[in-house]
Amino acid sequence: DTVDWDPQDAGKGEYDHYMLKEIHSQPTALSNAIDGRVVDGEVSFEDLPPGTFADVETVQLVACGTSYHASLFGTHLLRSAGVSADAIRASEYEPVSGPVDERTLVVAVTQSGETADTLDAVRTASDRGARSLAVTNVVGSTAAREADDALYIRAGPEVGVAATKTFSSQAVTLALLSQRLAADLPEATPPADSTAMLEALDDLPNQAESVLAESRASALARELLDARSYFFIGRGLGRSVALEGALKFKEITYEHAEGFASGALKHGPLALVTEESPVFAVYTGGEDGKTTTNATEARSRGAPIVAVGPDDHPLADAADAHLSVPDTHPVWTALLANVQLQLVSYHAAALLDRPIDKPRNLAKSVTVE
Ligand code: G6P
Repeated sequence: DTVDWDPQDAGKGEYDHYMLKEIHSQPTALSNAIDGRVVDGEVSFEDLPPGTFADVETVQLVACGTSYHASLFGTHLLRSAGVSADAIRASEYEPVSGPVDERTLVVAVTQSGETADTLDAVRTASDRGARSLAVTNVVGSTAAREADDALYIRAGPEVGVAATKTFSSQAVTLALLSQRLAADLPEATPPADSTAMLEALDDLPNQAESVLAESRASALARELLDARSYFFIGRGLGRSVALEGALKFKEITYEHAEGFASGALKHGPLALVTEESPVFAVYTGGEDGKTTTNATEARSRGAPIVAVGPDDHPLADAADAHLSVPDTHPVWTALLANVQLQLVSYHAAALLDRPIDKPRNLAKSVTVE
């Protein structure tokens, strides 16, 4: 007798899908990404000693897909620290890269380290004299080998095509990198709350655990399942999470989903907002009063609003539903809001019986341009 047995399935353990297993491994992945990298209140990377980046004038993060959204997250933090930085979709690198020289640090943000567009962008930048750093999950990957330096996100293998834990690990690693760069660059001005941000990291893995244990995402996904479109909005860091939330939702549910900057809603997308288009509004507890206003505009057009953020906020009160996120530093609030959205996508896709780990037409690693 033979039984159909996919050796890969054995690795799912108690979970129905790799994606769910990987979502639930985020407390561990986050601990690993942080481990040993904050020493006496300072960021410390083994192979990148203090002063490594002292000559850098500007930073370009190049990436695709989820890694691009993590790059938007990282760029926001670099700019908040007074470092000139830009996130560029790797496929757009040539037309939009602008001036590049030896004082440019090009950072390839790539889980696999094998994405063709990302590798091509780094090669183009290197040819023009830029210095390169790979922020990757895979030791010995092409990006890690070709770049001048590599910084590993230590998430462990990710099997689900839809990236989940690696977004969190990238976000936390890029947050640490932003502090390292700010410390190295004489003209950078680390924000006053950067010490608080690093201190709050201690609680992050446990907070991720409590989001996973207490999330109402499954019940909410069921309630919202018959909609025509799903919109995701947020501002600043919340915008990168909104874009990632929409990407995850569309790739695994096959439902129409779009992410916008909160303020962009009124410049077009609002025409699509009806009672059949739930709006997930991400806020971080920072300066998100405007997202509340934007979400309220959508609500007055009949859209169900799901607030995704800390409890004590006007948006949580104004919304039809709330996915609660622990109150911590706004940077980590944004990261935890993303975990809630991962769960929403997963449960919606599970209810629709989609092939969650291998969505149609998509690949884990895109090695063609
Ligand atoms: C594909 C995958 C995504 C991933 C993107 C970038 O589109 O399906 O999950 O975010 O490639 O991959 P990378 O390995 O460069 O992060």
